[in-house]
Amino acid sequence: MNTLGSGLKIIGSGTAIADQSLTNQDLSNIVETSDEWIQSRTGMRQRYICSAHENLASLGVKAGQKALAMARLQPEDLDLIILATSTPDDLFGSAAQIQGGLGASRAFAFDITAACSGFVVGLNVAAQFLRTGVYQRVLLVGGDVLSRWVDWSDRTTCVLFGDGAGAVVLQRQAQDNLLAFEMYTDGSSNGCLNLAYQAVSQRLTAGKTVAQGTYQPITMNGREVYRFAVAKVPEIIEKVLFKAQLTTPDLDWVILHQANQRIMDAVGDRLGIPSEKIISNVGQYGNTSAASIPLALDQAVREGKIKEGDLIALAGFGAGLTWAASIVRW
Ligand code: ACO
Repeated sequence: MNTLGSGLKIIGSGTAIADQSLTNQDLSNIVETSDEWIQSRTGMRQRYICSAHENLASLGVKAGQKALAMARLQPEDLDLIILATSTPDDLFGSAAQIQGGLGASRAFAFDITAACSGFVVGLNVAAQFLRTGVYQRVLLVGGDVLSRWVDWSDRTTCVLFGDGAGAVVLQRQAQDNLLAFEMYTDGSSNGCLNLAYQAVSQRLTAGKTVAQGTYQPITMNGREVYRFAVAKVPEIIEKVLFKAQLTTPDLDWVILHQANQRIMDAVGDRLGIPSEKIISNVGQYGNTSAASIPLALDQAVREGKIKEGDLIALAGFGAGLTWAASIVRW
């Protein structure tokens, strides 16, 4: 029997942001919008987007290196790399590119796709390998480059998204610092938020066709997604708290997917959690999809806000529709 026990802990975090900042003023030169509209509806002031010199794997490698440095580990110490993304550089998966870029030669690597819930889903998936003792150390990367897939002429979506990657290192230990998790999917509302493949039928030979189209830019029913988030996120946080035998005042911090400041405020109001406990950097980075929770987490850790022993509720939500939450002790 393994003496390390059947729990896990996050022992390092790191982030990488894209190389170009894009302000609300810049956006007003692209579509009919204004700094005032974007800030008042979303809380966003700027976001970062990748030039052609950068990609998801390069961001993931940088974030992973920083997380490993905080954890005082070498890439060869990793047993597993999980990449949560909806925008891989390669549809066959980009986790292997990150494994190669890091030189994590012992680690198996695979991608998971759960849009803006991806990081929390990845955390809960990683925990299964650690709790069973199959692996000792896992690097979880959440990253997206949605700027590739935004319709830059659609002001209802192009103002919202930014690019980036965040990573955490998880290590097996006796005590379990993942206190509880919950995950949900509502596929009946799948049409609310899509980055869908559109097939175009092409004749191959007599009586045979192939469907060779392309992915279409993001489409979103913003009001529906807003309603969904404000209803489901407080509910799932209450459920994970109940599972962990905790109540909202026990929480030191709440880190929600950084989709919109108004969503974060509404969730805080519904749960009766003071705004100082709800970590937000949406003004700086916009909605970076699977990267948004680790970006906010790492920033709060490096600023010294989050301290050893703090209790944190994490909640992601988005396309699928999916929503997921975890209670973590730092
Ligand atoms: N600039 C100026 N005006 C705009 C813009 C813009 N960028 N975008 C929309 N408008 C206009 C609309 O055309 C509309 O005009 P009209 O009244 O003349 O028709 C008006 O502003 C209001 O539009 P609404 O869509 O009602 O604006 P709302 O207050 O709902 O805010 C928003 C829109 C910010 C998108 C909001 O609905 C939202 O945040 N929804 C959630 C989105 C979200 O979180 N998505 C990501 C999920 S995560 C993932 O999985 C990727």
